[in-house]
Amino acid sequence: MTEKKKIVYSGIQPSGSLTIGNYIGALSNFAELQENYDCLYCVVDQHAITVEQEPAKLRKNTLDVLALYLACGLDPDKAIIYIQSHVPQHVQLGWVLNTITSLGQLNRMTQYKDKAKKSKEIYAGLLNYPVLMAADILLYQADLVPVGEDQRQHIELTRDLAERFNHRYSPTFVLPEMLSSKVGARIMSLQDPTSKMSKSDPDENGYILVLDEPDAIRRKIKRAVTDSLGQVTYSEDQPGLKNLIDIYASFSKKSVEDIVRDYESLGYGALKEDTAQAVVEVLEPIQGRFKEFRQDKALLEKIYKEGGEKARYLANKTLRKVHKKIGFIEG
Ligand code: AMP
Ligand code: TRP
Repeated sequence: MTEKKKIVYSGIQPSGSLTIGNYIGALSNFAELQENYDCLYCVVDQHAITVEQEPAKLRKNTLDVLALYLACGLDPDKAIIYIQSHVPQHVQLGWVLNTITSLGQLNRMTQYKDKAKKSKEIYAGLLNYPVLMAADILLYQADLVPVGEDQRQHIELTRDLAERFNHRYSPTFVLPEMLSSKVGARIMSLQDPTSKMSKSDPDENGYILVLDEPDAIRRKIKRAVTDSLGQVTYSEDQPGLKNLIDIYASFSKKSVEDIVRDYESLGYGALKEDTAQAVVEVLEPIQGRFKEFRQDKALLEKIYKEGGEKARYLANKTLRKVHKKIGFIEG
C-alpha cells in the first residue's frame, strides 16, 4: 500500500524585493520539498495589504515573487503555485476562525507588536493577519509549513485554532508542524546583527536582496559588522561573525564546524570573501532565470490560473465541511 504523501504549505508576501533571509529561511527549501511531498506555494497578496501598498507596485511585486518561485526551481507540474486573492475560501475560512480567536492572543503576537509600533494608525487587518495565515494553512490540511523562525508564534496560533475547532465541532483540521532549517532560520542584519535581516531596514547595507548585483553583494558582505576579537568561532558573543557563518553555510552547504575549522587561521577577510563568492554563485543563475520567467507574461498567467483552479478545488472541499459542521445551510 502506498502511503499518502504529506502536504506542505507555504507563502511569501509580495511586499517588495526578497532578501537572502527570505531565501535561506524559506524559499531555498521549497524546491526540494516538492520532490517528496504534495506542495502548495502561495503568493500572499492579501497579507501584503495589511500595510499600505501602491497598486502598481503590488501588481509588479506579485509577479516578481511568482517568477522567483519558478527561478528557484518550483515546478507547476509538481507543486500548486498560485495567488492568494484568487481563492476566496481563504477569507471565508479566515472569518470563521476569527470567531474563535481570542483578542488577547492576537495582541500578544510579536510580529504584530513590532509592526504596530511602526505604524501611525493600526488597522484591524494587521491584528487579524495571523488568523488569515491560519486559514491559508488549514484549508489544505497541511502537515508541514516551511518558514523562518519569525513565524513560529503564528504556527502555534494555527495549531491552537485547529484544536479549538476540532474540539468544538468534531475532528476537521490537521495540526500542522513548522519546518525550519537548523542553520539560517533567522538571518540577521549585516549592520546590526542583533536585529533580523529585513527589506524594510532603512540601511540598505543591512540586507542583501536575492536580485542584488554581484558587486553589491560583495560590497555589502565586505562591510558587514563583525568584532575586534580576531578569532573565528561560532558563538552568540560574536553575533556578526555567527551570522556570516550561517550565510556561508547555507549557500555553500558546508557545515558550520568545517567553516570554523577552515577559517580559524585564514581570518575574517577570507571568510567574508568566500561567503560573498558562495552567495553570488547561487544567486547569479537564479537571477538569470528570474529575468526570463519575468518577461514571459503568458507563462506566468497560465501558471497562476491553473494553480488557482487546483487550489480552489481543494479549498472548497475543506470549506464546505467546515460550513456544514457550523450549521450553515448549503446554498
Ligand atoms: P515574508 O517576506 O515576510 O513573507 O517572509 C517570507 C518567509 O521568509 C517567511 O517564511 C519568513 O519566516 C522568512 N524570513 C523572513 N526574514 C527572514 C530572516 N531574516 N531569516 C530567516 N527567514 C526569514
Ligand atoms: N506570514 C508569513 C510571513 O510573513 C507569510 C504567510 C502567509 C505564510 N500565509 C502563510 C507562510 C502560510 C506560511 C504559510 O512570512
